[in-house]
Amino acid sequence: MSPLPLVDSDPQATPLTLITDAALDSWRDAQPNAVKIWLSSTGFSGKSGERCLMPEEDGTVGRVIIGIGDGTDKWAGGGLSRALPDGTYALDQTIGVPDGDENDVATWFALAWCLGAYRFHRYKSESSPAPAVLVWPNHIDRGYVEGAAHAAILTRDLINTPAEDMGPDALAAAAEVLAAEHGAAITMTIGDDLLSENYPAIHAVGRAAAVAPRLIDLVWGDAESPKVTLVGKGVCFDSGGLDIKPSNGMRWMKKDMGGGATVLGLAGWIMRANLPVRLRVIVPAVENAISGNAFRPGDVVPTRKGPTIEVGNTDAEGRVVLADALALACEESPALLIDCATLTGAARVALGPELPALFTPDDSLADELLEAGFQNNDPMWRLPLWTGYRRLIDSKVADVSNSGESGLAGAITAALFLKTFVGEDTPWVHLDLFGWNPDDKPGRPVGGEAYAQRAVFDVIRKRFA
Ligand code: BES
Ligand code: MN
Ligand code: ZN
Repeated sequence: MSPLPLVDSDPQATPLTLITDAALDSWRDAQPNAVKIWLSSTGFSGKSGERCLMPEEDGTVGRVIIGIGDGTDKWAGGGLSRALPDGTYALDQTIGVPDGDENDVATWFALAWCLGAYRFHRYKSESSPAPAVLVWPNHIDRGYVEGAAHAAILTRDLINTPAEDMGPDALAAAAEVLAAEHGAAITMTIGDDLLSENYPAIHAVGRAAAVAPRLIDLVWGDAESPKVTLVGKGVCFDSGGLDIKPSNGMRWMKKDMGGGATVLGLAGWIMRANLPVRLRVIVPAVENAISGNAFRPGDVVPTRKGPTIEVGNTDAEGRVVLADALALACEESPALLIDCATLTGAARVALGPELPALFTPDDSLADELLEAGFQNNDPMWRLPLWTGYRRLIDSKVADVSNSGESGLAGAITAALFLKTFVGEDTPWVHLDLFGWNPDDKPGRPVGGEAYAQRAVFDVIRKRFA
């Protein structure tokens, strides 16, 4: 685990003043003349993320003023670790924030600082320029910041690593490292063992690849504690299969294990926080490749649970591997089952990159997750599990088709497909997420991203406290 850009103390640290735009005028008026003029002549307005370096008489930077807008933007500090001059900084004053909110502001400032410092540097010959460092602010929820940051960093690293170095074998190795770090048990079912152990759908999707498909199954915690199971789509590269994707659609498909990466990052956080749950993480890890033995359009694939799948389109592979993974998860009737998957382009058309689509038949679970999303700066949006659309994936020859002919309501029909393999009595949520930042935003550099992680962590923490 690489260190976060935070230190316990540094007497040389440059002090930071955070200020809301509303508080700026009266605060500035009370400053010495030179400060007043400098703030005005540099055009400082206090908008979120804006910074103003204040010179000392000797020309060094004596203080940095940071705008935090109306004080509610949790990403306000997200751009600073890469924008401020190299060095160490310490939160010193927060101006304009209601009494009692300062600790919350400082917690989010520190987390945004960490998440914005992230760079994926594995393949660069030159060493990465160091981010600016923050002194841990007092009175903040340090465990939350460390947990959330390390979880997101692991997830981003897994997603950003190209498929050549993050195939099913490497994703499984990463899960093994995580299990060893936290004393979790882990089993792998690999290649033809998937057939003898009754995971035929995972095998069908992954069998054409040079690296064998496998089922990753991690278990941690007291066997008597409530069972929380996380399932993640682990398609290490999605060529589309025989229904091959056009090049622009294939370009970023190294990220198609984003759901698996998200649940592995989350698992590390849950174990590090020692939440009182019996955690299980199931990731079907495959490459959707093209070869003479690839599964074909029109094939009928048996499943672990029983319902047969007609392959309408080999590019709808995620739901096929998840069918067996969800069936396995439900065999022990967990108290909570959450799956994360880069499942459909349709969810992205509907909600864009930033909002995972949430599907569940359980209204109170949906409300908890949506609320936790907004509380934890990790929003998502609910879409309907509208059973009226189940007919769109009816098959003439098998029990269900993996793709609707019309393509309408594609995110919903994918979720309904998954529901076929989930037990009636299991509280279940499906999150269809993007796994990627398409553009740079404060705290969210371009590349792999851990959507829904903080929201799900918070719901698990609260449900099973
Ligand atoms: N991994 C893709 C979905 C995807 C594409 C997510 C781009 C995020 C960005 C998935 O396996 C897929 O190809 N889905 C198809 C399903 C269709 C063939 C029914 C899709 O969404 O087009
Ligand atoms: Mn696909
Ligand atoms: Zn896919």
